[in-house]
Amino acid sequence: MIVSRLELIDFRNYVSGEFDLLDGTTAVIGDNGQGKTNLAEALAYLATLSSFRGAPGDALVRVGADQAIIRATVRHDDGRESLIEAELTVVGRNRVQVNKQKLKRVRDLLGTVRVTVFSPDDLIVVKGSPGDRRRFMDDTLVALATKYDAIRLEIDRIVKQRNSLLKQAQKAGHRAENLPDDIAVTLDVWDAKFVELADQFGYARATLVARITPMVQDAYDQLAGESSPIELRYEPEWRQIGLLKALTAARPMDLRRGVSTVGPHRDELALSINGLPSRTHASQGEQRTLALALRLASHRLVTERTESAPVLVLDDVLSELDDGRATALLEHLPPGQVVITTASELPPAAQADRVLRVKAGEVVTES
Ligand SMILES: Nc1ncnc2c1ncn2[C@@H]1O[C@H](COP(=O)(O)OP(=O)(O)OP(=O)(O)O)[C@@H](O)[C@H]1O
Ligand SMILES: [Mg+2]
Repeated sequence: MIVSRLELIDFRNYVSGEFDLLDGTTAVIGDNGQGKTNLAEALAYLATLSSFRGAPGDALVRVGADQAIIRATVRHDDGRESLIEAELTVVGRNRVQVNKQKLKRVRDLLGTVRVTVFSPDDLIVVKGSPGDRRRFMDDTLVALATKYDAIRLEIDRIVKQRNSLLKQAQKAGHRAENLPDDIAVTLDVWDAKFVELADQFGYARATLVARITPMVQDAYDQLAGESSPIELRYEPEWRQIGLLKALTAARPMDLRRGVSTVGPHRDELALSINGLPSRTHASQGEQRTLALALRLASHRLVTERTESAPVLVLDDVLSELDDGRATALLEHLPPGQVVITTASELPPAAQADRVLRVKAGEVVTES
């Protein structure tokens, strides 16, 4: 699947920009602040319906405009084309049309366009909190199958409802030993739903981690030019004893604190290089390499499982790597459509099929 053409209207700093991306590798070159990451963000938006920078929807609309439009021509592997038009309004009343047919729900677009983005912000997967690593696992799951988006949302909803019930009980001074029957019964109902979804999701995360680990190792070794053992460990305690048991054991604490203290919303994916935890021990360059290897592995897994390569967007990746690693990356780009943005000229190892230059939200095709 490729995005053959992308048009942005009032999106970020683009008044009206058109990108002919075609197949192969496109380099997007421009000085700082000209609109390279904005392009990456627009492409990724089509895949996830959110900003990979975590920006709220209204930040995506050009200042002074009421709505932004992302219009993309997508060519599927079987040669079919679809025209996707996403309208984002400042007030958040977004709409999506596919081939001029309005989708009932904006989220129905998920799965139509697959995009893998690597940006300098990805360092957070290695350096950030467990939530950042959960997002990495879960975004990969959603790229593999959109049903995981629904499961993830439902788990979030259950945790919220459960937390508000716990908070209420905590405020009323209830403890596990004197919990009124009605609250206990309601909690049991939430717990039963929670357990069912969490089991599915925990299993999916564990399977994902097992499948992706050798791919992360390959990508890391290839980038680093030498082999360092990488470990990804996802072993939440609740999966070992069963969530229902874990929730029962944690209930006194949950009531004391007024929050759900165990479950998939608290999981950690521990990462290590050479047996040392990467968040606290790896060098900056090792952390960057691992972050990139995680993203490339996720891209490869999605490509293999869906039998179709997502669009790979590498935003500003070259400034982050030493020459050896940058060359290794460029020489081993995966097959499929690749968009690389950079503020400096491309090194010779990059064989771009096309160069686009962006300046203040305008696009010039060079070759
Ligand atoms: N909603 C918006 N309306 C208008 N301009 C915006 C909006 N959001 C961001 N911008 C502007 O878009 C410009 C380009 O941002 P972008 O992040 O794409 O730059 P970049 O080319 O990736 O630069 P760098 O090399 O520094 O990463 C910035 O100057 C920013 O102020
Ligand atoms: Mg940028």
